[in-house]
Amino acid sequence: MSKITAAITAVNGYVPDYVLTNHELETMVDTNDEWITTRTGIKERRILKGEGLATSDMAVPAVEGLLKKRGITAEEIDLIIFCTTTPDMPFPATANVLAHKIGAKNAWGYDLQAACSGFIFGLTTGAQFIETGKHKKVLVVGGDKMSSIINYEDRATCIIFGDGCGCALLEPNTEGYGILDTVMKSDGAGAQLLFQKAGGSMHPATHATVDAKEHFAYQEGQAVFKFAVTNMADVAAEVLERNKLTGDDIAWLVPHQANKRIIDATANRIGLTPEKVIVNIERYGNTTNGTIPLCLWEWESKFKKGDNLILAAFGGGFTWGSIYLKWAY
Ligand code: UT7
Repeated sequence: MSKITAAITAVNGYVPDYVLTNHELETMVDTNDEWITTRTGIKERRILKGEGLATSDMAVPAVEGLLKKRGITAEEIDLIIFCTTTPDMPFPATANVLAHKIGAKNAWGYDLQAACSGFIFGLTTGAQFIETGKHKKVLVVGGDKMSSIINYEDRATCIIFGDGCGCALLEPNTEGYGILDTVMKSDGAGAQLLFQKAGGSMHPATHATVDAKEHFAYQEGQAVFKFAVTNMADVAAEVLERNKLTGDDIAWLVPHQANKRIIDATANRIGLTPEKVIVNIERYGNTTNGTIPLCLWEWESKFKKGDNLILAAFGGGFTWGSIYLKWAY
């Protein structure tokens, strides 16, 4: 019997309507369009506005669009892995909330937390259920309402992050398409360089934690940059080497969108010319778990069956990794 691989058979995405431009940020914090553009590549990001709207509210239209494209019903989904750093609530899992909202009555699900690497950790995890033959349809969702944990008085973080959500369906393939190799890594030594201090069991919410603004994301930008720029490039290079590939064999690099300079460094390291590198950071900023599925969604029409894709991410934790996959449609 031929080996079963997990192939992406549909992708979709959703970004909220509200556009927060660099110029609007100039009116909120001491920054300017020129600094943000040259240091990060970001021009604008989307923000989910509306009382009570949460990450799952972006996932619903993304997933419903995916189901329509693939021509299947929510009841056919076996498993939902919801990769997010901004769940609707600390518990229950946003995967459960989403399953209920879309009517995925036969699915079980759970949330996966790996900061900006969440979506590639989710694909890697979901692929196991397909490869073993346990499941036929695994939905991997990556999305964040980063605006819910951003301090719009902190120019070190508020210029970077945005809201958005994407998703991919994994199904079995026996013709050699789909996820062919993954390298995933983590190092807890970076935990205090990019984190949300309060709201967990170490520092539960109190008036003091709120007053100290400890429920917002905090980042030591330069230190994170140094780790990201080397590790994301290293892990992408490792995946290529392991599979005896060079830049010429790769059709597309799908990088996490944290900083255009990190993306460029990764592309250079594996010998890719700019036209093979997917970049939408200028329009969405860093949507954390949303970046890679939003890229897949926006570039889907350009992909050809058999294209070699390299996915790469780096995130808080630290977490990082890379996936080699052959596009299946
Ligand atoms: O997604 C998961 C992982 N996250 C990342 O990969 C993010 C990694 N880090 C970064 O992308 C970058 O470190 C940032 C974009 C966050 C910051 O860029 P940087 O080039 O590392 O800037 P910096 O923090 O070294 O600051 C340089 C200067 C400082 O001024 P002085 O000390 O040189 O006078 C900052 O005070 O820029 C100043 N600065 C700003 N100026 C205008 C910092 N933030 C801003 C700002 N607008 N928003």
